[in-house]
Amino acid sequence: MKKDARPFIVAANWKMHKSPREAGEFLKSFVAQTNKRSLGGDCEVVFFVPAIDLMVAAESLRDSQVKWGAQNCYFEMKGAFTGETSPAVLSEIGAHYTLVGHSERRAIFHESDAETGKKVKALQGVGIVPMLCVGETLAEREAGRTNEVILRQLRAGLEHRDTNKNVVIAYEPVWAIGTGKVATPQQANDAHVALRQGLKDLGGDGFSRVTPILYGGSVKPENAAELGAQSEIDGFLVGGASLEIATFLPLIPG
Ligand code: 13P
Repeated sequence: MKKDARPFIVAANWKMHKSPREAGEFLKSFVAQTNKRSLGGDCEVVFFVPAIDLMVAAESLRDSQVKWGAQNCYFEMKGAFTGETSPAVLSEIGAHYTLVGHSERRAIFHESDAETGKKVKALQGVGIVPMLCVGETLAEREAGRTNEVILRQLRAGLEHRDTNKNVVIAYEPVWAIGTGKVATPQQANDAHVALRQGLKDLGGDGFSRVTPILYGGSVKPENAAELGAQSEIDGFLVGGASLEIATFLPLIPG
């Protein structure tokens, strides 16, 4: 599953699901079950939990190999920004990754390309690895604009990045999110090939070789192996199937 110099990453995006009590019970049980089996070589597991569950994730995963992070943050460190989460505080409590520019943030909360670029910079500045999400809508795909859209989002998200720090990309076609309609392995890999070239154009060969590109959109136990075998797919960002241990665990290469 691991390709070239990149880890294989299986990430759960819980979206607005699970209370602190439910999160704690899930994560403790998950750690107990994964301790009985080894995570495949160079495989990372990450949980993106609701902001109100972050401290529970920090405590529940403290002595485990499992990483965690926030689903969003602001690009300022502190101040009069009611309702926002500070990257500096995420760093203080031990977040390893944080999502930036998820399609639900872009579509429902009107997050712009320019904001994603500022968030990537802010997160890298406090030592958190940004996981930048890109993806086209069905109308954009049908108009033949897939690569144009995802490469624009990639360039904007990485505009202010620190070239000495890591970033992870997640390709999530909007039409495949929560719809049960998964991209075919070929459709997904084609988009990943375009993104890999985009990374090369932005930061050269070395940057494109070490930067993982995950696929997200209706990943399930039945389609994970074939998607994960594609040459440019370095893991998954999983919504629905990450809410139950029984459907999330089988997505992790053992
Ligand atoms: P689903 O796996 O539910 O389609 O969600 C994908 C997603 O948006 C993960 O960020």
